[in-house]
Amino acid sequence: MGIIIDGKKISEEIKNNLRKKILSIKKDKMKPGLAVLIVGDDPASKIYVKAKKKSCEYIGINSFEFNLSKEISEEKILEIIDKLNTDEKVDGILVQLPLPKHINQETVINRIIPNKDVDCFTKVNIGNLFYGFDGLKPCTPNGCIQLLKRYNIEISGKFCVIVGRSNIVGKPLSIMLTKNDATVCLVHSKTLNLKEICKTADILISAVGKRNMITADMVKQGSVVIDVGINRDEDGYVTGDVDYKNVEKIAGYITPVPGGIGPMTIAMLMENTVYSYLNKK
Ligand code: GUN
Repeated sequence: MGIIIDGKKISEEIKNNLRKKILSIKKDKMKPGLAVLIVGDDPASKIYVKAKKKSCEYIGINSFEFNLSKEISEEKILEIIDKLNTDEKVDGILVQLPLPKHINQETVINRIIPNKDVDCFTKVNIGNLFYGFDGLKPCTPNGCIQLLKRYNIEISGKFCVIVGRSNIVGKPLSIMLTKNDATVCLVHSKTLNLKEICKTADILISAVGKRNMITADMVKQGSVVIDVGINRDEDGYVTGDVDYKNVEKIAGYITPVPGGIGPMTIAMLMENTVYSYLNKK
């Protein structure tokens, strides 16, 4: 049986440290602030935003929620972002994705000033990440790296296979693992011999969004398996990409879903918001 990597526990430790940091800030000083824009009524987005708000409250971050109609125009969203960009009470701005089809996601995201882009989605921040500069880090990839570090799992020199090439997870994670001296292989739906490649991984990360994407025959004995997927089974229960019941018997370490990467993503968002607040000019 593999060791279960407890993302929930680690995320709580991180949030407790942030809470202590905020509590130590002088009473007359403004608290950090996070603005969250949610457009339309996607049920999954609502759940994520609620969890983000709850974490803000716990840590002592002011949260400003903007529930916008799915019919809202792109110009109106840009107007709201422009106001938030110059609002001193706001240190982080997050636009919950997905956005309705009539809105250009790239235009909206890149309107956020890089200092307040706590998702690390803007071209400027992704460029900084690419060059290896310090700054805000993308939340889910950083959550993966932090879990590996907290469990003293060596990354340097390891063969890491990432399944999925999204802009939010796969691509930035490949940059971050490379910075940590891993040898990285990014595989996707067009990859030939996907199963065989996965089986050679010391660290296998799945970020596809498909149930049972990773089966036991794709996993090397004793390897580390990180499951970024969030899916629902036929009974509505949340599951990851990994066939957990069978893979757990082979893996050396494994993250559960729920309770693995999900809570770490939120903890990293909180960390970015506090970072942005502390680095305010
Ligand atoms: N939708 C799904 N995941 C995310 C995320 O990490 N950030 C934002 N803004 N939207 C998302």
